[in-house]
Amino acid sequence: MNAENKIIIKSVSLDDARLPSVIYGAIGNPSPEKILEVIGSYKNPDHAIIGAFIGDILVGVLGLCKTTKIITIRHISVPLKYQRQGIGTLLLEEVKKQYEGYKIMAETDTESVDFYAKSGFTCHGFYGAIWQFKVQM
Ligand SMILES: CC(C)(COP(=O)(O)OP(=O)(O)OC[C@H]1O[C@@H](n2cnc3c(N)ncnc32)[C@H](O)[C@@H]1OP(=O)(O)O)[C@@H](O)C(=O)NCCC(=O)NCCS
Repeated sequence: MNAENKIIIKSVSLDDARLPSVIYGAIGNPSPEKILEVIGSYKNPDHAIIGAFIGDILVGVLGLCKTTKIITIRHISVPLKYQRQGIGTLLLEEVKKQYEGYKIMAETDTESVDFYAKSGFTCHGFYGAIWQFKVQM
């Protein structure tokens, strides 16, 4: 079943109690302290988190950083139960719509590179400690 029809996209407050349990999926080695540290980093006025909601349930988040011409996606996460239903794509589409004319960039891993490619991002692999990809559109 595709969940797109009942999903609402809107901004997420940093003190939303649902946020830690959703954003953690996009954080490496997510201890409780690290999750709070990451959320705290979005207090910067150039940062924002948008969420996908089905009723009261937060089913996806996307955190970004904005400069004059570039949007950097820092985190995107959809809980396993809600994956492959178009929610991640809806979050990307919202960013494209809200920031039309901006270059949109992200760094991601082997597991998620196909997700970005399917949304039209170009992907360039590089090797750090593991294979990673710079994606942009
Ligand atoms: C990556 C992620 C956000 C995708 O969200 P999603 O809601 O499942 O994505 P969608 O349903 O919109 O998928 C869009 C397309 O990408 C594909 N896709 C999604 N996740 C994929 C994956 N991990 N590998 C390969 N393809 C993937 C889907 O099959 C779909 O293609 P289709 O329309 O041809 O079926 C989600 O899998 C996730 O949260 N992963 C864990 C966290 C993570 O890795 N974040 C990114 C690094 S910070």
